Amino acid sequence: MRTETRAEDLRTAVRTARARGATVGLVPTMGALHAGHLSLVDHARSDCDLVVVSVFVNPLQFGPGEDYETYPRDLDGDARRLADHGAHVLFAPDAATFTPTAAATTVHVAGLTEHLEGASRPGHFDGVATIVTKLVAVAEPDRAYFGEKDYQQLCVIRRLVADLALPGEVVACPIVRDADGLALSSRNAYLSAAERDRALALPRALGDVAAAWDGDADAARTRLAGALEAAQGVTCDYAEIADPDTLAPLHGRVAGPARALAAVWAGPRESPTRLIDNVALPAVAAAG
Ligand code: PAF
Repeated sequence: MRTETRAEDLRTAVRTARARGATVGLVPTMGALHAGHLSLVDHARSDCDLVVVSVFVNPLQFGPGEDYETYPRDLDGDARRLADHGAHVLFAPDAATFTPTAAATTVHVAGLTEHLEGASRPGHFDGVATIVTKLVAVAEPDRAYFGEKDYQQLCVIRRLVADLALPGEVVACPIVRDADGLALSSRNAYLSAAERDRALALPRALGDVAAAWDGDADAARTRLAGALEAAQGVTCDYAEIADPDTLAPLHGRVAGPARALAAVWAGPRESPTRLIDNVALPAVAAAG
């Protein structure tokens, strides 16, 4: 595996491989890689000849008071894990060069970014959309891989790629969970054992909603919000039943598939950890 730190060197490496007929997979990450990220790398490896993984803690997607400074960083460990999983190129630019303060361009995806995560984290998706656009512009992938854990991000990126006719197919990969059900996230490292235990209310509530799903979106929303509001040690930010593509809230009986999405704060009130999770709700067959 080779490491590149400059956009122009990554572009040359990718173009050289492509000239030899290689297909290119891009896995954008912010590092502190866990089994969820590595599953994206494995998917990319099975589909593509050249797998590029970016590790970049993107300052543009952190708001004031968020954890940009303390976000876990472990580039040497990440490089070892990526080499073990057969990645070919690690792209690790530095923030001053890749996100210069003089840059004047921001990518904004309207509508989709304004509720759910967007309501609590203003500007977050502009930061994500801007950096993903830049990564795709540099790597020109045939496929780019994103996890379903950040489901709204996935919808935003699909929309962005379609609207701007960016190269590459967006490939969604399933959520990877620990044995206790908690979705893997680099931020889980912030939780103590007791806090983590209480955070399990999130996957449990989503699992219960999926098990009880009969197509009644309002009942499912009430059930999800009720379970999270009743849970000890977590504070519910949102609990939503939404269209799986547009993320518009659904009401009444819905025939087609839906997505249940929720966010909670866990851990101490002074420095809580934000956890998000979601689950697919399948189409319900019409009676008769
Ligand atoms: O999901 C992430 O880790 C980030 O939001 C991404 C897509 C790498 C953009 O910085």
